[in-house]
Amino acid sequence: MVSPTPVTFGLPTQPASYSWEATDEEVAARYGIPIGDIVRFDLNTSPSPPDLAARVLAAGIFDAPLAEYPPSDYRRLVETAASVYGVATDELVVGAGADEILDLVGKAFLPAGGRAVIPVPTYAMYRVVTEQRGATAVLVPRLGADRDYALDLAATRTAAADAEVVWLCSPNNPTGLPEPDGEIETLLDVVAVDAMVAGRAPAIVVLDEAYAEFVGASLLALRHRHPNLVIVRTASKAYALAGLRVGFGIAQPETIARIVPYRPPGSVSTVSLTVVTEALADPTGMRANVARVDAERERLADALREAGWSVGPTVTNFLLVELASVERAAEVATELLRRGLVPRTFGPGHPLAHALRLTIRDRAGNDRLIAAAREIDGTGGSAP
Ligand SMILES: Cc1ncc(COP(=O)(O)O)c(C=O)c1O
Repeated sequence: MVSPTPVTFGLPTQPASYSWEATDEEVAARYGIPIGDIVRFDLNTSPSPPDLAARVLAAGIFDAPLAEYPPSDYRRLVETAASVYGVATDELVVGAGADEILDLVGKAFLPAGGRAVIPVPTYAMYRVVTEQRGATAVLVPRLGADRDYALDLAATRTAAADAEVVWLCSPNNPTGLPEPDGEIETLLDVVAVDAMVAGRAPAIVVLDEAYAEFVGASLLALRHRHPNLVIVRTASKAYALAGLRVGFGIAQPETIARIVPYRPPGSVSTVSLTVVTEALADPTGMRANVARVDAERERLADALREAGWSVGPTVTNFLLVELASVERAAEVATELLRRGLVPRTFGPGHPLAHALRLTIRDRAGNDRLIAAAREIDGTGGSAP
């Protein structure tokens, strides 16, 4: 089954690469829709940036003159982020989005020929980073939908015993829920014990908390006991600043010091540094965004369920909709695209090829999705 939207598939001779959905322009051209009518449900972003972004840009006062490179230590951003996350400045590294942090972790800790554990389904970049390092991605299936796609702790532990990196994501993208309480802590403990018994260093455990603000909880405190834990945060999701490309890695100072040599001197622009520093210092916009998602999440999920779709539980700004088959998922995706609504599809062979992921947008955008679901369901039903 071919995805209804153009995606890129690497040839066997090419390194693994990330696949995007069609751009606004491509969707508009293909379906004859005005570009302004397109709503993106595929990227887990937010409908609008915080108000302060426009104010900072209009004021035109940035951390450095725009003719110069950004301050190479990103000092004001580092200090502000450290205080927001409650960590020391030497416990944090800044990257061009969480994605660059994942890449830096790969460079620092994943040798060619090494192994990285990926509980799947999860965020696609872990596999991309792993394979681009010339390492092997050890895919460990998560428990099923009936177990909320939680980690298979025993299998993950076994796989971690001879791996350099374990990629965790909580709340998990695309399945929407955090790991059950205590599970990640237990995994860190057993990984440490197993490594000690084997006389080797424990795998670096990356915990991607890109969606943490939507739950209001974080496992940052676990870094005190686990020098092999790297937590990843971002300005892209709850802070609604994905276009600025700012993310953070947080770990014990010695661990950060092993990542920093791989950081390019200026991958984060001066404009991004300035705006994100202000957004972190004044989280009003972030809180309003989280409140918007809180207000819309159940309304959207319930309306889609009433339309006959099987919507999983979520604490994030996106929903996972499981359809009756891979074919039905492709049909529904096409029907959405024809209406200018862009879902996230999962490629052939993906464990969620029969599902679509849909970002929770603003009320008007969500209403269009609900109306579309009601119409589409009339075209043949979809719930498993
Ligand atoms: C789990 C997860 N990690 C990282 C990212 C990328 O974040 P950033 O925009 O900060 O690179 C995403 C974006 O969808 C994500 O879902």
